[in-house]
Amino acid sequence: MGEETSLKKITAHCKEYGFIFPSSEIYDGLAATYDYGPWGVLLKQNIRDFWWKSMVQLHENIVGIDAAIFMHPTTWKASGHVDAFHDPLIDNKDSKKRYRADQLVEMHIEKLQQKIEREVQKARKRFKEAFDEDKFRSESPRVQKYQDEIQQIRQRLHTALQNQDWKDLHALILELEIADPVSGSRNWTEVRQFNLMFSTQLSNIADERGTLYLRPETAQGIFVNFSNVLKTTRQKLPFGIAQVGKAFRNEIVARQFIFRMREFEQMEMQFFVHPGTEMQWFEHWKEERMRWHQVLGFPAEDLQFHTHENLAHYANAAVDIEYRFPFGFKEIEGIHSRTDFDLKQHEQHSGKKLRYYDPDRQEHVLPYVIETSIGLDRTFLAVLSHAYTEETVPDAEGKPTPRTVLKLPAPLAPIKCAILPLVRTDERLTRIAHALFDELKLYTQCHYEEKDTIGRRYRRQDAIGTPYCITVDFQTIEDHTVTIRHRDTLQQERIPLDQVRSAILQKTELQTLLSDFYQHLQDLPAVP
Ligand code: GAP
Repeated sequence: MGEETSLKKITAHCKEYGFIFPSSEIYDGLAATYDYGPWGVLLKQNIRDFWWKSMVQLHENIVGIDAAIFMHPTTWKASGHVDAFHDPLIDNKDSKKRYRADQLVEMHIEKLQQKIEREVQKARKRFKEAFDEDKFRSESPRVQKYQDEIQQIRQRLHTALQNQDWKDLHALILELEIADPVSGSRNWTEVRQFNLMFSTQLSNIADERGTLYLRPETAQGIFVNFSNVLKTTRQKLPFGIAQVGKAFRNEIVARQFIFRMREFEQMEMQFFVHPGTEMQWFEHWKEERMRWHQVLGFPAEDLQFHTHENLAHYANAAVDIEYRFPFGFKEIEGIHSRTDFDLKQHEQHSGKKLRYYDPDRQEHVLPYVIETSIGLDRTFLAVLSHAYTEETVPDAEGKPTPRTVLKLPAPLAPIKCAILPLVRTDERLTRIAHALFDELKLYTQCHYEEKDTIGRRYRRQDAIGTPYCITVDFQTIEDHTVTIRHRDTLQQERIPLDQVRSAILQKTELQTLLSDFYQHLQDLPAVP
């Protein structure tokens, strides 16, 4: 499946099966804003729960908070977001389209990389078995030329972004003869900087002092509560504070479905450490978070680290965990060493001390911070992209039939188990099925359905990723057994009615993912 096709198919599937709808669709929607439907909200909740429990429940030294979205305006002055949370934008005068100037350069670099890959493919065909890819990459003059070009462009982009030298970024775009991807025009405006924060106004203060920002990251709610949490939980360094919540960014280019939105949800954890130990903790969290993604079932080859060259204004080291989305490797989570930047800034702007008293050293310490910050919507998209499968399977008569199935990890599935009476016209079957549903719904999210043929009902459950279907048939009346159908293997087995609950719970509880993750952490080297 091509990249575009596969994202289009996933987007269409999400709408058709109640996972994600375009926001305010009856008014033709609002760009880059989406609503989660009945199954989407459950899947999202399960991912959120898994993250929360992986942080707060599995770590004695991590606690959670839920801070308000609105914060005192000085928060954003202190955090640097008023002065430095900008993207460089550029308009095309002919197409009237607006772009992120740095992304246009990145796209140009991607094209050069594709040229390198084409050279490699050609050489592979030419030399067949004798082809030595590493040697070719290091010796081919053409590949070398493209690589040098990429390196020079990267360096210049990096310097321009670091120095906020928009003139040079503009000059680079002109020199590289970058054209508008839509119209092909090279008629560009100057590069300008654009603050990504949305603002609104308090009703009782008319001037600038009443300007409120919709938080662009949840992290600041954690920093301003540092002392409150410390006092009330009596944590000792190192310790973490976790939070899940909405964040808002006025993205210049918002696209690729829920990958880049203007309103999205973050799951962030700030880990406060003794100054001087931050790089060890940075390495630790890099590794721990990568293992978390692996436990979600993503193959190792679909995950990679990407070390940042262009650091955010608060970081002295940063790495992304990238997932191979249908449109290529892209960031799903950022791990940042934020130094003492935020606490120090809030101390200066608020006049309040945000220190930790170290009883062993008998001194007040301004902790350093390692942050793990993951997008809930991006994780949702990654989970869904990995689960989405089109395949051909035998139907009840053994005839090959196409099906679309979401092979979601069972604990994340919106519905854990569907209860289906074979026919709806026989009250003996529907009564047993209803009773089973009433029993199971106290423990887990299940679903009762009696309309349509059993084959159609199976297909509908496949399409929303339900791992187990329980069918109540005529044999149930005789011997109190039901069939349990496995979504991925299509295997059906008979089990006693009174064992259904334990069989389903054992396979679908979040605890199974959590213990898997916990096992994965056992050989993680301890930070001294
Ligand atoms: N507090 C640090 C911070 O916000 P970030 O790398 O800008 O760091 C963290 O964002 C994560 O938030 C990203 O890895 C991504 O998953 C998610 N994210 C950022 N912008 C987003 C957007 N416009 N739409 C959806 N998710 C986004």
